[in-house]
Amino acid sequence: MVSVIIGTQWGDEGKGKIVDLFSKDADFVVRFHGGSNAGHTVIVNGKKYPFHLIPSGILQPNAKGVIANGVIVDLEVLISEIKMLEEDGMELKGKLFVSDRCHLIIPYHKALDLAYENARGKDKLGTTGRGIGPALADKVSYNGIRIYELLDWENFVDKFTFQTNIKNKILKTFNIEPINVKRELDRFLKLRKIILPCVTDTYQLLQNALKDKKNILMEGAHGVMLDIDFSPYPFSTGSNVIIGAVNTGAGIPLKNLDQVWGVTKAYTSRVGGGPLPTEVHGALADIIREKGGEYGTTTGRARRIGWLDLEAVKFACQLCGVTDLIITKIDVLSGLEKIKVCIEYKLNSKSISYSSCGYNELSKLTPIYKELPGWKDDISKVRKFSDLPKNCQNYLKFIEKFLGTPVKLISTGPARDEYIKS
Ligand code: IMP
Repeated sequence: MVSVIIGTQWGDEGKGKIVDLFSKDADFVVRFHGGSNAGHTVIVNGKKYPFHLIPSGILQPNAKGVIANGVIVDLEVLISEIKMLEEDGMELKGKLFVSDRCHLIIPYHKALDLAYENARGKDKLGTTGRGIGPALADKVSYNGIRIYELLDWENFVDKFTFQTNIKNKILKTFNIEPINVKRELDRFLKLRKIILPCVTDTYQLLQNALKDKKNILMEGAHGVMLDIDFSPYPFSTGSNVIIGAVNTGAGIPLKNLDQVWGVTKAYTSRVGGGPLPTEVHGALADIIREKGGEYGTTTGRARRIGWLDLEAVKFACQLCGVTDLIITKIDVLSGLEKIKVCIEYKLNSKSISYSSCGYNELSKLTPIYKELPGWKDDISKVRKFSDLPKNCQNYLKFIEKFLGTPVKLISTGPARDEYIKS
């Protein structure tokens, strides 16, 4: 059984908790794209675990974590997560596997990420500053350095020195301090020792798992609206976020996918720049942001808030072949008198689909809303669909009907046990 969890919005849909929950029955939980720009939070027994690279299912005793080839790895971030788990008594050898094909984030990627952002001035994209874009640019221009290079230290030293010298010339044009080759090599030598015991051929590992009919859970990061090809570029992240990344990023053939879970937050948030058609401002945005804890796990930035945008989610579901939906953070909407849902986009009085919009259209269009009555009761302790307030049930049924996809799980709070199966 292979299932995939995909975020159908702009990221931060609450995927971490869902991955943790589903990993209870998984043999392998696999990150296959993105990098440490992702932030997935899992709360177990009141303790918060913020993950950026290690799969969120690692806390489940039987699940093995895999960081497959499509992930861009910042060793410092990865090792700080390893240490966080080791402090809890977890032994990572034999529990966490990292592909030698993963490309590395090198300090010059972060420096370049910030340099480009500053140079953009008022047109900043609002990247996470984790070096993702520059690292992926190096990957496709054959200038990347992979974990594979770390296996042969002398080879790594050569490649690292060559690339850093080139990058230092570029950094100089931005008036940025050059990267000190010797100091960084000393640092990588230490990081290398910690990570090498987890490095393996994850392709073969997963192929064997498929052959042995193991349960594999693919943990999507970010959200479809940030996909490098299908978002309003350049307001994107650097990688493909859509379902095809399961194949390119982990080598799992798409014909092996049994279930594609689309995780959709009951409202919208976005961190960073770019159009957000259903964005709300003022007191309403503040209430939702505070109640939903809508601050970036990676950067701490306040997230922008909007009503649920079903035109966008419909596109994500179609593009990824979502078979089942999970609605998260529905509890955050409790107490609102009226709730709006975007059901259509209009531009110059004509209907326009999400897929035919670039960033210009998305910033100018008028969202058409359906207004639904809200509910007052606190629903975080509700465990049965039929015990939800009627208006909450109607909100969920409306989403399900509009998208033509069944809602199978409703998350009613951040803790592991706060959910309803429907
Ligand atoms: P980058 O991925 O750091 O290059 O940032 C590009 C854009 O994607 C920025 O607007 C980020 O805020 C956004 N982004 C990247 N990853 C995530 C995520 O996991 N959640 C939400 N936004 C993200």
